Amino acid sequence: MSNQQAPQQEPQHFAFDEISEAAARKAIAPYPEGREISAVKTLLDIAQRQMARTTGSAWLPRAAMDMVAARLGVAPIRIYEIATFYTMFNTKPVGKYHLQVCTTTPCWLRGSDDIVQACKNTAGIGHFGETSADGLFTLTEVECLGACVNAPMMQINDDYYEDLDGARTQALLNDLKAGKPLPPAGSTTGRKASAPASGQTTLLPANDPAE
Ligand code: FES
Repeated sequence: MSNQQAPQQEPQHFAFDEISEAAARKAIAPYPEGREISAVKTLLDIAQRQMARTTGSAWLPRAAMDMVAARLGVAPIRIYEIATFYTMFNTKPVGKYHLQVCTTTPCWLRGSDDIVQACKNTAGIGHFGETSADGLFTLTEVECLGACVNAPMMQINDDYYEDLDGARTQALLNDLKAGKPLPPAGSTTGRKASAPASGQTTLLPANDPAE
């Protein structure tokens, strides 16, 4: 089930770099002494982003979780529990583009099976949890990401891509394979935010007595 070809191995040591250290201090500062654990998710996110910045893969090696535990003065198991609970934290290496496809009921009813299939076919991935042989894509199944109104959708790294279908998913991934940058986030059909897909249906100028 795990990544077919991990882009990298578990490092023996992890320390915050200058950028991360500044962010960590800012994250911990609001909490009183003895309550630094409240910053745990922020610190894990900082560590994962450092991995992405320095290695190209946004994940949390055990050494990073242990470092966060030591920094916050808690047992490592408390950090492992948190890191393995939230899908936003990756405890194994992921590809450059982490494809997180929502398959919860609203997205499923709107065609998430097609999105999953397009991801598998285009990225060359057989199962959820795998990374493509070129290290470019990792496919993960996630629960509702709160964008049901523009279902079906998937998250790629930090961004949401909505109103997807199989063809648009394939085109998007082919562009990434060709080296193009991620397109602007949001609806892939041009829908404005979560406005009606058929266009404006109320408060039309023809119905407005002031017009
Ligand atoms: S069900 Fe997919 S975003 Fe809510």
